[in-house]
Amino acid sequence: MSRSNTVLTVPFRERNTGHVRLKINIKRCGSQPETPNIFLLRLLRFAHSSTFPSKRPKLVTMILTQEMFHHNQTAGMPPAVQGISLDGQVIIITGGNTGLGYEAAKHFAIRGPGEIIMVCRDEKKGQDAVDRLKTETGFHAIALWTVDLLSFDSVKAIKDKIDKLDRLDILVENAGIGLYNYEVSNDGWEKILQVNVLSPALHMILHLPKLLETSKKHPQTVPRVVYVSSGAHFWETIPVEGIDASNTLRWINEDLLGQSFMRALQTRLPTVTCCSVNPGFCKTDLSRHTPAEVIESRREMTATYAYTAEEGSRQLLYAAIGERDKEERIRGGYLEYGRISECSDFMLGEVGQRLERKVWKEILEVAGDADEKARYIIDEYLSRG
Ligand SMILES: NC(=O)c1ccc[n+]([C@@H]2O[C@H](COP(=O)([O-])OP(=O)(O)OC[C@H]3O[C@@H](n4cnc5c(N)ncnc54)[C@H](OP(=O)(O)O)[C@@H]3O)[C@@H](O)[C@H]2O)c1
Repeated sequence: MSRSNTVLTVPFRERNTGHVRLKINIKRCGSQPETPNIFLLRLLRFAHSSTFPSKRPKLVTMILTQEMFHHNQTAGMPPAVQGISLDGQVIIITGGNTGLGYEAAKHFAIRGPGEIIMVCRDEKKGQDAVDRLKTETGFHAIALWTVDLLSFDSVKAIKDKIDKLDRLDILVENAGIGLYNYEVSNDGWEKILQVNVLSPALHMILHLPKLLETSKKHPQTVPRVVYVSSGAHFWETIPVEGIDASNTLRWINEDLLGQSFMRALQTRLPTVTCCSVNPGFCKTDLSRHTPAEVIESRREMTATYAYTAEEGSRQLLYAAIGERDKEERIRGGYLEYGRISECSDFMLGEVGQRLERKVWKEILEVAGDADEKARYIIDEYLSRG
């Protein structure tokens, strides 16, 4: 049986943006390589029909996203945003000691803001990073806050520091972990869920009054909150019974959760912009907990596709300061590879919307239970809608 690689151009509907054409490489088996595979075309159209997003066959989604992944990871990362003044602005970035966070902090530093606050888990690693950043950029207004996102108590402990800030213009929720085993934190949550979603949500909520105060005091500034997510959310859905369950949070992939939270958050904040960003697949320390055999199995893929941490960090910068003339389009949005993109059809569909409402309610409950001040902020600023 012969095997060939064929490029088909398949029209499909992309929600809100009309018809677009996408080139898809399809591996075909058989003796008639010139005959279009009608069945496959139908399947692909069906997969992208926004009428049935929840029925989208995962395999086909994977074929499409893999092709887009190939394109996005080989097309070259767009250059870092230039020409934006950060004069006097205060920027907070979590996970700033290494990887994407460190490189993003460097991009901010060379643009001379008022101050950068690096939120790091480990005091020593954080201080080393601050010292290195000062040396590498010549920018010295850098502070270190130590926070372990695995502990709500640790997140809560920075409340006084937030109160003392003069202003807060950009908050980048970047810190995250990738684990291979199911592990539970002392707060009783699965560790990835807590570090990548629940603690960042609590952290954002505690900063909201300062962000809102900044937008009032500096009406020419629209503060931004950026959640670092990933393209993996395109592959994720949830069965309806998961939404009806009492603990929906425990059913879902963290990117889907985080992005749903950001979209809901945006609807309550008219003067602050909230968005999610996919930095792309990058070679960083994120695989530090990955078993050696898995790293080995991905060696070729990493060598072929991974961007550097600096290249990926440009997307964090883009989400934080880019497209200032298109603020409305960024609000609640999803950005990747230097463009304002669109999150998955599932998230935009009926089931995804139900999920968003449920996730919002559950995350606010967790944050409110974790801290009295968070509860007050939720009641004061986030309870409408
Ligand atoms: N690299 C990729 O391909 C990729 C793709 C999509 C999304 N992302 C996302 O991008 C973000 C940055 O990842 P990265 O690739 O730069 O990974 P990284 O090099 O491993 O950096 C992760 C950062 O998060 C911090 N962190 C981990 N656990 C923490 C905790 N409990 N409390 C506070 N900080 C904690 C780490 O601090 P320590 O050094 O002290 O552990 C580190 O500063 C993550 O949210 C990740 O999910 C990455």
